[in-house]
Amino acid sequence: MTDISNRTAFITGGANGIGLGIARSLARAGARLVLVDLDADALERAAAELSEKTEVYTAVLDVRDRIAYAQVADDAEAKLGPVSILANNAGVAGGAPANKLTYELWDWGMGINLDGVINGIQTFVPRIIERGNGGHVINTASAAGLVAGAGNSLYCTAKFAVVGMSEALSLELEPQGIGVTLLCPGPCATDIIARTRAVQPKVTRSMSAEQRSNAFARNEEAKKYLENGTPPDAVGDMVCEAIREIRLYVHTDRRALEQIKDRMAALLDAMPPAA
Ligand SMILES: NC(=O)c1ccc[n+]([C@@H]2O[C@H](COP(=O)([O-])OP(=O)(O)OC[C@H]3O[C@@H](n4cnc5c(N)ncnc54)[C@H](O)[C@@H]3O)[C@@H](O)[C@H]2O)c1
Repeated sequence: MTDISNRTAFITGGANGIGLGIARSLARAGARLVLVDLDADALERAAAELSEKTEVYTAVLDVRDRIAYAQVADDAEAKLGPVSILANNAGVAGGAPANKLTYELWDWGMGINLDGVINGIQTFVPRIIERGNGGHVINTASAAGLVAGAGNSLYCTAKFAVVGMSEALSLELEPQGIGVTLLCPGPCATDIIARTRAVQPKVTRSMSAEQRSNAFARNEEAKKYLENGTPPDAVGDMVCEAIREIRLYVHTDRRALEQIKDRMAALLDAMPPAA
C-alpha cells in the first residue's frame, strides 16, 4: 500500500486531458503537484484550479529537452520537496501511413512519446532510489502499446517501447519500494487529436486531394471515437487506486480484450512444438 498524501508528484502533460485528471485525483489524495507542459495557458488554468486544493508548481517544459528537464526538476524540488511520484504522461497521437512517414515525423513522434518518458525516468528514478523513501512511477502508454493497428506504426513503436520499459522497471524497482503503473488507455475524452494536428509536422502536402480528404475523414472519426471515451477525471482516479495498490496494469475499458487475446494466442501458436 502506498500512501499518496504529503508526497510531491511530477506530471508531464499535466495541463490538459489525462494528465490533468491524474493531477486532480492526486491533489484530492493530498499530494503536492508539479505540472509541466508545453501549453502555458492551460498550465495557468490548471494552477488556478488546483492551488485551491494543494501546493502547485508549474513550468513550461518540452519533455524532449533534457537540459531544461533537469533544470525544471531541480527548481521544482527546491520549491515543493523531493519528487517521489512521477507521471510520464505527455504525448501526441500523430502518425501517417508507412509510405508517407518521414524522418521528421519519426523524430517528432518518438521524441515526445518515447524519449520524453526516458528523460523522466533518467531524471527522477536515480533520485527516488537514492532517497530510499519509496515512490511510484506511472508511464502512460496506450492500448496501442499492446495491440498493433494498420497505419499506426509510429505511435505503436513508441507505445510498445513504453510497455517494455515499464514492465522491466517494475521488476527492478518494486523490490526497492518503488511501484510502477503502466497506464494503457483506450479512447478517452480529450482533445488530443486537435492538439496533435496543431503541432504535428505536415505530411499531407504530398498527398492527392482524395488522400487528403480520406485523412481528414479518419481524423474526424477518431475525434468522435474519443468523445465517447472514458472521462479523463475517471482515468485519474484509476491511476490513484493503482498507485495505492501498487498495481502494474491499468486499462480504462475492455475494448482491446479480443485483440489482446488474439495477439497472445498468435504468439503462443508460433512456439515450436514441445520436444
Ligand atoms: N486520449 C486518448 O484516447 C488516449 C488513448 C491512449 C493513450 N493516450 C495517451 O495519454 C497521454 C495523454 O493524452 P491526452 O489524451 O490526455 O492528450 P491531451 O492532448 O489532452 O494532453 C496531452 C498534454 O501533453 C502536452 N504535451 C504534448 N507534447 C508535449 C511535449 N513535447 N512536452 C510537454 N508536454 C507536451 C500537451 O500540451 C497536452 O497538455 C498521451 O501519452 C497519449 O498518447 C491517450
